Amino acid sequence: MFTGIEEYRSLDTASLYDNEKGVGCALRESGVPREKVFITTKVWNADQGYRETLKAFDQSRKKLGVEYIDLYLIHWPVKGRYVETWKAMEELLDNGAARAIGVSNFTVHHLEDLMLNASIIPMVNQFELHPRLYQAGLIEFCRSKNIRVEGWAPLMRGRLERDPLILGLGKKYGRTPSQILIRWALDHGFITIPKSVRRERIEENAQVFDFTLSVDDVRLVDSLDRGERTGPDPDNFNF
Ligand SMILES: NC(=O)c1ccc[n+]([C@@H]2O[C@H](COP(=O)([O-])OP(=O)(O)OC[C@H]3O[C@@H](n4cnc5c(N)ncnc54)[C@H](OP(=O)(O)O)[C@@H]3O)[C@@H](O)[C@H]2O)c1
Repeated sequence: MFTGIEEYRSLDTASLYDNEKGVGCALRESGVPREKVFITTKVWNADQGYRETLKAFDQSRKKLGVEYIDLYLIHWPVKGRYVETWKAMEELLDNGAARAIGVSNFTVHHLEDLMLNASIIPMVNQFELHPRLYQAGLIEFCRSKNIRVEGWAPLMRGRLERDPLILGLGKKYGRTPSQILIRWALDHGFITIPKSVRRERIEENAQVFDFTLSVDDVRLVDSLDRGERTGPDPDNFNF
């Protein structure tokens, strides 16, 4: 926990990551008041379904040692299960146990299907999003439904560190490649969650609020799109 950096108060975890206990522990040790931190966690695929989700939520809450979760997400769109899962999510929102609910790795057709059966439209969709996978159609759809776009793997897991365009922009703005990538996401209005286990990189990645990319440079970075994923395809996964 880096209490010196006001902007770094969003913690993204998931039951799958098996680190909820550690995150809860770090939160208590930091002394940062609970309400100053935004905690996201996710229901894993094996726990989907109405009753199962309510149970999984309680387990996550206990492991984190908190009263409420700021944002609870369906981790992946498990066919035949996510509609029932969503009913539990709506209940968790209704009773205040989750402050916001959303989905992760949902494509347009998953969202359309879910919304046919939902009372509440997901507030967030968290999906893989970086310049090599700029999912314009999905972004546009989410925005048209008022679903906030949150991008995972914003640094493309290190694979854009040596890209000539990103390096060139780094020189132009006097920033590191990671800072250019994070700024690109922020300039698009995406919620972004870069990950590092190293203190100096966490600090570096947070130093992005004192500059912006020009509109033309944002467009240049958009042109790196190749539809290239680092993770599984939401239309073709088997876990
Ligand atoms: N919803 C989902 O299905 C899903 C899937 C994947 C990830 N996520 C979430 O998204 C977060 C980020 O995604 P991600 O970890 O896959 O990818 P990422 O943030 O794009 O990349 C992380 C990689 O970049 C390196 N890195 C970080 N900062 C750097 C810097 N300043 N300079 C150079 N290298 C740097 C990290 O290495 P070091 O750690 O060694 O610094 C790590 O190898 C995860 O922590 C997770 O919370 C969600």
